[in-house]
Amino acid sequence: MKQISERIFYVGVNDDDKELFEGLWPLPYGVSYNSYLVVDEKVALIDTVESGFEEEYVAGIRAAVGDRPVDYLVVNHMEPDHSSLISMIIGLYPEIKIVVNPKTVPMIKGYHGVEDERLIVMTEGESICLGSCSLSFHMIPMVHWPETMVTWLPEENTVFSGDAFGTFGAVAENPVDDEGAFGQYRDEMIRYYSNIVGKYGTPVQAALKKLAGLPVKRICSTHGPIWETCISDVVSLYDRMSRYDADRGVCIVYGSMYGNTAAAAEDLAMELERRGIPYALHDLACNNSDSLGLSGALRDVFKYDTIAVGSPTYNNGIFPPVEAFMSALQARLIKGKRFYAFGSYTWAAASVRLLNERAEAMNFDVLGDGLPFPQAYTHEKCDMSAVASLLSE
Ligand code: FEO
Repeated sequence: MKQISERIFYVGVNDDDKELFEGLWPLPYGVSYNSYLVVDEKVALIDTVESGFEEEYVAGIRAAVGDRPVDYLVVNHMEPDHSSLISMIIGLYPEIKIVVNPKTVPMIKGYHGVEDERLIVMTEGESICLGSCSLSFHMIPMVHWPETMVTWLPEENTVFSGDAFGTFGAVAENPVDDEGAFGQYRDEMIRYYSNIVGKYGTPVQAALKKLAGLPVKRICSTHGPIWETCISDVVSLYDRMSRYDADRGVCIVYGSMYGNTAAAAEDLAMELERRGIPYALHDLACNNSDSLGLSGALRDVFKYDTIAVGSPTYNNGIFPPVEAFMSALQARLIKGKRFYAFGSYTWAAASVRLLNERAEAMNFDVLGDGLPFPQAYTHEKCDMSAVASLLSE
């Protein structure tokens, strides 16, 4: 527990044990599930945390409010990393009212069997009074689920933003940011956004427009630090990512069976390095437990404006891990990328043609025909210097 202001207490927890968020995305630096108390004449709890942290969570709440009852639980978002302990909180505070919006109602009934009498159903802009302060509710559908809303505490210029502005990475004992926090969390914020929220650029833009009308001084997200010092950097990054705006640079993503497509990818990286072009290199077929795999590749797709994809021809198609990567791009409605394909084949060249077709279907700017090469990779067959020059233009 950490007191953040006169009325706000942080009662979130760090999860350093979970290996895969949503069962998919690696967590090398952990993740926090943030929950907050607003303490006034009435007490409001904003979101809960993932199951498995019951004891620590209740101890934090008790440390903040002692034996006082919690009057309201505000549910900004129903994904179970924030809603898992709703039933436990009801058991702890039998008189508690739960503040939701109409889209939350079937979810909270389905997950927790909450009865109508306990629910206070708010629509856009409605508020509840806690005494000297109030909480108003603003819908931000699809950031990250259709029921998602933010809670605004005008007396403290604070927005409880749900997943918006969240990041992977556990938080320090003091969860409030400092000047260095944005730099420290930037990569994990991009990875979180690209992996979890990346499909919803248009709803994120709508949410940003809504928030732009508020004099926000503090952002209390459900994951990662509380943003005060770095607000402008964080909002600007979310704005860019949700517009699919990226820096000049190349995200090289490949899979390889016997090292030939890998050798082409590595040579391309070396040629880009020589030219001073920023790049990232991701082996999707890597068994190294330190590799972020698809998760890291998606992060760097959001960082750089160019994607170079290498795949051998496999069963007359795209190598499966690379096929999964292309599907992940499509699922996230990625826009505006420059694209280049390369890869080896033994008797029939298919992968480069198919990769280009997938890229064209996403309206990417496909740079040339790509580079399919037969059998072993050699410098004589493959002029990666020319490819690097093309990608550097
Ligand atoms: Fe952190 Fe969409 O839940």
